Amino acid sequence: MIKKELPFTVEIYASSEELNRNDTELLTQARIVTKKAYAPYSNFKVGAAAVLEDGTIVTGTNQENGSYPVGICAERVLLSAVASQFANAGILTMAISYDNLNGESNQPISPCGICRQSLAEYEERTHQPIRIILSGLKGEVYIIEKANHLLPLTFSFGDMK
Ligand code: THU
Repeated sequence: MIKKELPFTVEIYASSEELNRNDTELLTQARIVTKKAYAPYSNFKVGAAAVLEDGTIVTGTNQENGSYPVGICAERVLLSAVASQFANAGILTMAISYDNLNGESNQPISPCGICRQSLAEYEERTHQPIRIILSGLKGEVYIIEKANHLLPLTFSFGDMK
């Protein structure tokens, strides 16, 4: 038996002011687009913004439903939009923010398990790692080199061959 660590690194910035210009712009877009979320049940509005290989920025927000499980997270709305409208373009970076209408938005949130699985497969099928930027409307910013670091020992379509 051997034991193996599966580490990953998170860059932690005190605020968006420490980011480079492109990352600041993308996070700003994610923060702004939270307003377009449809979240009347949770009052938790999530916004995501992705920059594609050609520099295009695409955004997505969570879309809830009175039949609760029908709701879809901002990250998967965004992945679906990019795949559908931009011919499965690679995503260089995705920023994710949120507006917590019940409280503060000053800590990063991280994608849910289903979104991690979706992000991992999008990376795999486009052969393009997705950098992830996480932050509330203010406060610390986390940057992760690629989405599948959030899902160690990922089940992938390659496993079915
Ligand atoms: N949500 C997202 O859109 N992304 C996440 O990363 C976490 C959760 C949404 C789902 C639901 O509409 C609301 O936030 C509360 O869970």
